[in-house]
Amino acid sequence: MLLVNGEPAACVDPRDRGLQYGDGVFETITVRGGKPELWDAHLERLMAGCRVLDIPSPDPEQLAQEVAQVTADEIRCVAKLVITRGAGGRGYRKPDEPKPTRLVMRSPFPDYPSDWSDSGVVVRLCRTPLGLNPALAGLKHLNRLEQVMARNEWQNPEIAEGLMRDSEGFVVEGTMSNLFLVDRGTLVTPRLDRCGVAGVMRNRVLELAKSLGIPAREERVTLATLQQAEGAFLTNSLLRMWPIRILKGQDCPRATITATLKSALDRVLEG
Ligand SMILES: Cc1ncc(COP(=O)(O)O)c(C=O)c1O
Repeated sequence: MLLVNGEPAACVDPRDRGLQYGDGVFETITVRGGKPELWDAHLERLMAGCRVLDIPSPDPEQLAQEVAQVTADEIRCVAKLVITRGAGGRGYRKPDEPKPTRLVMRSPFPDYPSDWSDSGVVVRLCRTPLGLNPALAGLKHLNRLEQVMARNEWQNPEIAEGLMRDSEGFVVEGTMSNLFLVDRGTLVTPRLDRCGVAGVMRNRVLELAKSLGIPAREERVTLATLQQAEGAFLTNSLLRMWPIRILKGQDCPRATITATLKSALDRVLEG
């Protein structure tokens, strides 16, 4: 099910700048029983991305209504929103009067093995580096070639995720997820001021840690810090939280903080 500017349609203008240049932003959202999880946070990041890129912001009410329309009657599915600057302009120069394109689509929920959330996942290290660009850091923009290259480095279905380092070698995130580790009782997550996507679930976990009195900090994370951690886990809007069981072929310990945060997260999201 796909709506293009509110109309059921299967195609967009081939001159759309989202297709030509990746000139836009997107969100991927879990929808349960018609309720989009963490909706306000997704909307906020989408709007922030539009502001930074100077794309006219979509109407939140209209987006909510279209998400409800495409996900009606589904017990659990994924809603994806894409906002592009639309067609037009001369080369990279943006059109004087942009007419953004709004896509709202539904897809099935990914069938991740059910034990990955509890028993944890196998994670590898990717070779593809993340370029540094503070102007775009944190945004969920449509330029995802680094993630595409990194994800295509492995085919083994037992490996759930690959970690990516920036061009200076600091560990930043997974190809589709954010990373947390536990260091001497403190929750640590890589700083996202130079690259990476500021995940909605990452934010939720940081808020939860604060409310539970778990100390947390953002910092540049080296591979050595990660490998010496008391535990590590990944987050995103669909998988919520996956503990890391094996990293680079080595068994990872399981920190109590991971279990505490996981049950708190499940409680707030189910509640
Ligand atoms: C590269 C990348 N980092 C992090 C995330 C996690 O973001 P969120 O928690 O908003 O789903 C995603 C989600 O798809 C992603 O693609």
